[in-house]
Formats: sequence, structure tokens, C-alpha cells
Amino acid sequence: MALIIKVSAMDRLRIVGGQRLQGAVTISGAKNAALPQIAAALLSPHPLELTNLPDVTDVENMLGVVRLHGAEITRSAHAATIDTSAAVSKETSYDTVRKMRATVLVLAPLLARFGHARVSLPGGCAIGARPVDMHVAALTALGARIAIENGLIVASVPNGLTGTRIVLPSPSVGATETAMMAATAAKGETEILNAAREPEVADLAACLNAMGARIEGAGTHRILIAGYTNWHAARHDIIPDRIEAGTYAIAAAITGGQLELTHARLEHMASVVQLLEATGVSVWPGDRGLIVSRDRPLKAADLTTEPYPGFPTDLQAQFMALMCCAEGASLLRETIFENRFMHVPELMRLGANIKLQGTMALVRGGEKLHGAQVMATDLRASVSLVLAALISEGETIINRVYHLDRGYEQLDRKLRLCGADIERLGA
Ligand code: UD1
Repeated sequence: MALIIKVSAMDRLRIVGGQRLQGAVTISGAKNAALPQIAAALLSPHPLELTNLPDVTDVENMLGVVRLHGAEITRSAHAATIDTSAAVSKETSYDTVRKMRATVLVLAPLLARFGHARVSLPGGCAIGARPVDMHVAALTALGARIAIENGLIVASVPNGLTGTRIVLPSPSVGATETAMMAATAAKGETEILNAAREPEVADLAACLNAMGARIEGAGTHRILIAGYTNWHAARHDIIPDRIEAGTYAIAAAITGGQLELTHARLEHMASVVQLLEATGVSVWPGDRGLIVSRDRPLKAADLTTEPYPGFPTDLQAQFMALMCCAEGASLLRETIFENRFMHVPELMRLGANIKLQGTMALVRGGEKLHGAQVMATDLRASVSLVLAALISEGETIINRVYHLDRGYEQLDRKLRLCGADIERLGA
């Protein structure tokens, strides 16, 4: 049985700020590693067991998508066995892809296994346009024929996929994953250059290799994939979520507390740890993960989001909340997504002093924050409001909590166990 607690779309969080967080937080499996691995189960007719699966709604939705294609799923707490022996390539509708853009990751596995696939184009999303042109170009280079018909990506491989060299114009995580999955079924070797180096890409390669693929170099900018995989049943343990770990590190920092982040891996978080240390936060490895604490005043520091190993865009909003409480001004530059400052007006409702200019935000820290009603707009924006609320005077009500449930497992419970005054209110 999955642990997920069914919540109403209208649930709200009530947070009373001022508590110093102390204790241990168990970091869940990485959502962004789980999603492509669930899609990858469609490549092989043999079962794939995924363990350390986070209990978040994006994962449930992705399992629902592969189920729609005929997969049988056996679920237990934090694990799923996905059996796609009876799967078929069906149309993946706009409604499904619109809800979660990562659904587009089923395109390559369906195409590689069945020779044809029809997946809706994702369209825009809250944090920007997010095109899929690099996914399409990579599949075309491998020999797929792709047309866009009535908003659908219609793909087929009349002569089978053939290994080739793919040079990505920029290191897109999703396009690297698409190319890697398709190449496992191609005839001959594929080389992906300028590949994304995110740990989630390396973890997908580890999962595919456990399933029978032969992939080398994942986690570097050059990935080599031998084709014609001989698939077999497999089991893979998903890496811990470095974005969830970074979020709780900032929770410890913003409240001047101390948290042990069980399972967090320092080697996945070098840029985050470096920046936190520059602001006066202490981070050190412990027996079970990382320990994060702050007992000095917070100093302002500048930030530019970059592909891994640079500072992740998925932690920009959380870092901004932290900088609202630092002494001095900090400049935050977003280079990955064009519309990823939706948390700014909401943080300003709590009293933050932030000026936006294009892709830059100037935060003047040190203003006292006060509780207010705020609106969650996307996953990471929402959690930045939770962090700011933890040190805001009085009560903050955060509406549209379903955004948080997409990617944070039991956020309110984990924070409450460390001393936060937080409760979930029904509609
Ligand atoms: C993944 C993560 C997301 C994270 C992002 C960047 C998952 C499920 N999601 O998203 O949480 O914020 O990496 O670290 O893993 N682009 C194109 N054409 C394409 C593909 C991407 O122009 O075909 C652009 C995007 O619009 C964006 C940039 O490339 O500006 C990076 O996107 P990408 O790395 O592909 O992000 P996702 O895989 O969508």
C-alpha cells in the first residue's frame, strides 16, 4: 500500500512562524529520478522493481500513465514492481501530458519497443514555454520519423533505430534521458555529446544497466550506449532527492536550527553546500547523511542557476526565501527557465523586499516578515513560501497545497516532527 494521504485540491497549510527546527528528516527518493525510470519500464517486457520510490503525486501520476499503456503495477510502501509484458503503444493524451510535463518521457520507450508512439505535445507550463525540440531532434537522428499532427507528436521507426552521434545544443535533462532510452534499442552504438550531467541522468543509466542495457559515461558530458539490449528482470534503488535535501537544509538555515538530513548525499550537493556555507550556514557529513545548522547571522550571497553541477534552478525559490532574511543585498539570476519568479509577488506579501528585472531578482534582506494569505503557484515556488512562513511573525495560510504534494513527501509531517508549527487544513 502506498503511504500517500489523499488530499483535496483545496487543502491549505497553516504555519505559525518563529520555531527553531531541530531533529532529523528522512530524505525520500528523488522524484526526478523516479519519473524517467517508471517510463523506462516500458522498454522491456520483463518486470522492473523500483525501490526508494517517493510517495508523491507526480510518481502516482506517472505510474498511472504506464498503467494506461497496459502495465501491471504491484505497489508497496516506497516500492513498485512494473510489469509491462502485456503493454501496448496507445495515444498519450493532452490531458495527461498537460498535468505533468515529464509524461513526454514515455515517447522514447514506446517508440523503441513498439516502433510507433503518439504523445501529446506538452505546451506551455507555469514556469515557461519548455519546448521538446531537442527530444524530437535526438529521436530523428536515431532514425525516427516524427510529425506534429493536431497537437500530437506522431513518431514511427520504419527501418528501426540506428545508433549515431547526437550533439545536444544545450544539456537538457529530459532530452538526454529520451536519447539514452531510445539508443538502448538502436542497432549499433550511440554517443551523446553535451549530455546533461545531473545525478538523475546517471541514476537512469544505472537503472537501465540493471535492466540489461550497456551505458557508460552517464553523469559526464559524453555518454556511450551500446544498442540492441537483451532485457531482463531488474531491481533498482532510486537515489535520494537532492532537491528535497537542499530544501530542508534551507529550512534549518532560515530558522537558525539544526537538522540531520538522513540519506542526503554530499556529492550530489556540492554547489548548494558551497553557497550555504558562504551565507554562514554549517554543513558537515554525519553517519547517516548531512547535518546542517546555523548559529550566526545570515550573510547575503549572489546566485546564478546553472545545469548540474551548478546551482539547481529547482532550489532558486527556496534560496530566495533564505536571502530575504540575510543581512545585505543579493542578486539571483535564473538562466534555465524564463518564468521562474512566480514566488516573488507572494514573498512580497509576507514583507520581503525584492525587485525583479528580467531574469534577475535583487533581494534586500533583513526586513521582518509577517504572516499573510499566499498562493502556491508551482512546486518549488510553493515550498519557498513554506520556508518564508517558518520565520514570519504570526500566521501564514498557503493555498493550493496540491502543488507541494506533487514533489514533497509528507512535507507538513516532516516539518512538524522537527518542531515547526504547521497544520494542514481541509477545504
Ligand atoms: C528537469 C527536471 C526539472 C528541472 C530541470 C532543470 C525532471 C522530471 N524535471 O526538467 O525539475 O527544473 O530538469 O534542471 O527531471 N529545452 C528546450 N528544448 C527541449 C528540452 C529543453 O529548449 O527539447 C529547454 C527548457 O525549456 C529549459 C532548458 O532547456 O529552458 C532545460 O530544460 P531540461 O533540462 O530539459 O528540463 P526538464 O528535463 O524539462
